[in-house]
Amino acid sequence: MPWRARAGERANPYHVWLSEIMLQQTTVAAVIPYFLKFIRRWPTLEALASAPMDDINRMWAGLGYYRRARGLHDCAQVLVRDYKATFPQEEVSLLALPGIGPYTAAAIAAIAFGQKANVVDGNVERVMARLYAVRTPLPKAKKELKTLAAALVPAQRCGDYAQALMDLGATVCTPRSPQCGLCPWRKSCKARRDGIAETLPAREKKAAKPVRYGIVFVLSDKEGRVLLTKRPDKGLLAGMMGLPGPEWQETPLDWPAIRRHAPEKAEWKLLEGSIHHTFTHFELQLRVAYATIRRPLEDRGVLWQDCANEALPSVMLKALRFARNGV
Ligand code: ADE
Repeated sequence: MPWRARAGERANPYHVWLSEIMLQQTTVAAVIPYFLKFIRRWPTLEALASAPMDDINRMWAGLGYYRRARGLHDCAQVLVRDYKATFPQEEVSLLALPGIGPYTAAAIAAIAFGQKANVVDGNVERVMARLYAVRTPLPKAKKELKTLAAALVPAQRCGDYAQALMDLGATVCTPRSPQCGLCPWRKSCKARRDGIAETLPAREKKAAKPVRYGIVFVLSDKEGRVLLTKRPDKGLLAGMMGLPGPEWQETPLDWPAIRRHAPEKAEWKLLEGSIHHTFTHFELQLRVAYATIRRPLEDRGVLWQDCANEALPSVMLKALRFARNGV
């Protein structure tokens, strides 16, 4: 993992912070290319702090959870302004920064500064639930698991310990088919002793996510360009490029009413079928309307074949692909 320090070297706090923000809700494999792109383009915290938000959004496109990009920029600016472009080393000071929650504050304190901190993510919760055979379901068990984890944190090499524990969860103590035979803690693991490792952690049944309904308008000209617009600075996918369309709503679409939101007068055709995309708090059912116009879009539009290189959120790329295959 390119953000990790080599043996005996100190980790770069900027790299640790950037990687930890990117790794929230996102896999290591997905993060690596983004992390490398970011540090190549903005090698220092100052460089990132002075970058235009639009550039950061473009580079973030495709990684998901877009609010993190804004938090990254806000945090970099606060650090430059208040901390001479360095990071505070204490967990409490880190926690006060934009975009940094309890997990991330603990992770940076431990990994970048070797502070004694209890770094608990989903992997660590799973390892603790098994090690101590905690049968209480998540999320109720969170506090208990955190307390159990705290008692194991060593006084030395806290960062190495935190990352070793995450790696154990990611590669050995996996959600399904854990490799108990390879586990360094196999002798003391209570879930293994009881033969219930794979069933833990227990989880409360999640309520089904609500559905939201949306539409995007794909407007194409005769030169093969598609109209793209910048999304509002607030709300979901804030500040990202996207296809035009009204706000997503809680009731299914009424096409005659919704077509009034089209970006231009044209012969709009509502395509059959819809796109499904899962967000944190809801499922999106997105319909696509399509039209061509005579007047060239010029620089308001992007050539179809270049759309994949545009910095677009995945759901917008899906909609473009859907329009292209459906038209
Ligand atoms: N997930 C979150 N932070 C991580 C790290 N430092 N190493 C591996 N996986 C992680």
